[in-house]
Amino acid sequence: MTSTPSPIRWGILGSGAIARQFAQGLRVVPGSQLWAIGSRAAATAEEFARIYQVPKAYSSYQDLVEDPAVDVVYVATPHLRHQHDCLLCLEAGKAVLCEKPLAMTASAAQEIIDQARQQQVFCMEAMWMRFMPLIQRVKQIIDKGDIGEILTLTAEFGYPTEFDPQNRFFNPALGGGALLDRGSYPLSLAFYLLGEPLAVTGQAYLGNTGVDEQSAYLLSYGGGAIAQLSASLRAYTTNRATITGTTGRIIIHPPFCRPDHISITPLSPEPVVTTHSPYRSPTGLKARLENQVKQLPGVKQIANRLRDRTQTLWSAPVGNGLNYEAAEVNQCLRQGLLESSIMPLEESLRILQVMDKLRQQWGLAYPQDLQI
Ligand SMILES: NC(=O)c1ccc[n+]([C@@H]2O[C@H](COP(=O)([O-])OP(=O)(O)OC[C@H]3O[C@@H](n4cnc5c(N)ncnc54)[C@H](OP(=O)(O)O)[C@@H]3O)[C@@H](O)[C@H]2O)c1
Repeated sequence: MTSTPSPIRWGILGSGAIARQFAQGLRVVPGSQLWAIGSRAAATAEEFARIYQVPKAYSSYQDLVEDPAVDVVYVATPHLRHQHDCLLCLEAGKAVLCEKPLAMTASAAQEIIDQARQQQVFCMEAMWMRFMPLIQRVKQIIDKGDIGEILTLTAEFGYPTEFDPQNRFFNPALGGGALLDRGSYPLSLAFYLLGEPLAVTGQAYLGNTGVDEQSAYLLSYGGGAIAQLSASLRAYTTNRATITGTTGRIIIHPPFCRPDHISITPLSPEPVVTTHSPYRSPTGLKARLENQVKQLPGVKQIANRLRDRTQTLWSAPVGNGLNYEAAEVNQCLRQGLLESSIMPLEESLRILQVMDKLRQQWGLAYPQDLQI
């Protein structure tokens, strides 16, 4: 008789918006138990515990990480706290799943990584998008070479966010700005599918509080591929991603970070652009007949449909999507791994190096002494 392994016991550090979603997501992850919540205030911890039926409610993050029953902590605080809160967990020997971005800067991320490696404790950035089934499918299609050599990737992520100079989106002291918040997704997608870029350049609109309310990034790669990415706190963008290769194109339908369908279109391997048109227009009777047929009702649509070889794959995510990253962490912990191969620490670091570079280009610096 095989025995069921004991559940992985999760603690959540911080009780804000994403913490609540994560608590819901965890409900559909087999072999997990949401064991404890840590908040800066007893009342918030208790309220969270009541709503999500959490056995332990702690009125400090320190108390949470000292609970010997907690196997792994989900860090759900604003960006500027990630470094401090990850180190708190790692020093207590707790595995960590930390919200994105892993830290505010590459050097802060490096400290987290060094600590995780020194303590031999699991650590991962909570880039949930990478674990969505259809993002995994896109990765497989590309790695198999089914759309040929990748030439372009475009991805934009934005929706209007109410302006409040105090909130974490606009307040520089909380690490505000589109790049660190929404820009994490297109950048992480480009890294996942195309690898590390050779060069990066960007443009940003810095608003009244000094953070980038909109920004765009151009990444170029060794083989000639180009990624065009953007993020916005102001515009409702298409929130779609498109990857074009030499023999096919994939569209990740919106929202690309949590897709429920993708479309794959095979493209002619022949060059589409030629210096002269190889097509000669029909003349005389043939041309007149062709034109008359084209005018018949519905003919254009049928012809387009026959020409369009696009295949659409549907796969509705189970749960709210955050469950997939939690399942990956559970699996890594059960296998005794210290990192996930899908979201390795080195890649979180490289993405922050790109973010550092972009902010440097725009003159966007965060206060040296970020308040915790
Ligand atoms: N994966 C996603 O889809 C997604 C979506 C949204 C956000 N995020 C990430 O998750 C993190 C948190 O975002 P959120 O939207 O959940 O933020 P939020 O609603 O403001 O919640 C953050 C929580 O952190 C704690 N906290 C500690 N120090 C704080 C401070 N100085 N100011 C404000 N809160 C502080 C608070 O919990 P206590 O009062 O209980 O201590 C607060 O409720 C961010 O890094 C963000 O990038 C990810």
